[in-house]
Amino acid sequence: MKIFAFSIREDEIPYIKSWQKDHSDVEVGFTEKPLTPDTAIEATGSENIVVYQQLDYSSEIFEALAEVGVKTLSLRNAGVDNVDFESAGKFGFQFSNVPLYSPQAIAEQSVTMLQRLLRRSKELDTKVAKGDLRWTPTIGREMRVQTVAVIGTGNIGRLAIKILQGFGARVIAYDKYYHPDIERQKLYVETLEDIFSQATAILLHTPSVPELYHMINATSIAKMQDDVAIVNQSRGDLVDIDAIIAGLDSGKIFGFATDVLEKEVGIFNEDFTDKPLPTCIADLIARENVILTPHTAFYTETAVRNMIILAFDAAKTFAERGIPKTLVRY
Ligand code: COI
Repeated sequence: MKIFAFSIREDEIPYIKSWQKDHSDVEVGFTEKPLTPDTAIEATGSENIVVYQQLDYSSEIFEALAEVGVKTLSLRNAGVDNVDFESAGKFGFQFSNVPLYSPQAIAEQSVTMLQRLLRRSKELDTKVAKGDLRWTPTIGREMRVQTVAVIGTGNIGRLAIKILQGFGARVIAYDKYYHPDIERQKLYVETLEDIFSQATAILLHTPSVPELYHMINATSIAKMQDDVAIVNQSRGDLVDIDAIIAGLDSGKIFGFATDVLEKEVGIFNEDFTDKPLPTCIADLIARENVILTPHTAFYTETAVRNMIILAFDAAKTFAERGIPKTLVRY
């Protein structure tokens, strides 16, 4: 049995080796190259492939994989929004993902970013680096006097709520599907309008689905409290970035922290130290009240280990003609 993995980074190799040691009956191959119609051929002779990429899984990719006899893909990440399921279905592909590699990693970063915005840490760090050790005017806001709205109460959102409650924040929540723990705590408000009118800070933890496209836009921002802080550690297309920039310019938005952007593919996880950044990103980075991280909320040792181990486990199950627990139903 052979499993082949694409887009493997240096930091993932020790976990692959460790998995391989525990599964000596499986031959494992990997490449640092992403899966494309041209690289698919490297999977020849493998029952299954393990992949992570932000590029779309397109019809051309499925065709190239089918030609080399691969029909199952084990994604080593959670989101499946870049899979063309219509084409995949035509070729009869099956997928698994790793939905729970570490919800904690994202929830921790989300609350940390809110805390950084409220305490104006980017501004303060810049001042201190220049030798300006004065307090004013960089006064912060405390968590316990915030009404923090968590939109999306899946695994990540619920952990974020727990961490926020540890800080003493008043939490309100919104989701189309109620979770019993959050319901028991009476945290749900009925509508997004309630969220926008009550929250002094908003954390986004929903998946990218068509009905939530640009849910944060000029109209919703206008309904928010003045000086609202917004944190997006979920998906870039939940937010109309031009509306955010307008809200930052007008002073309506106190601060914005984002780990994701709608057009991040080909930009995040690339080195721009010797070339110009795209204008919108340069603009965001230059702002004292914006914290931009390049899709690193997931990037912890624990998460990366779990992504590899759980994706290879699922790949092995597929290769043995079984159904992994994390089969993606579409
Ligand atoms: C996901 O797991 O869906 C993520 O967004 C993290 C990915 C960039 C590895």
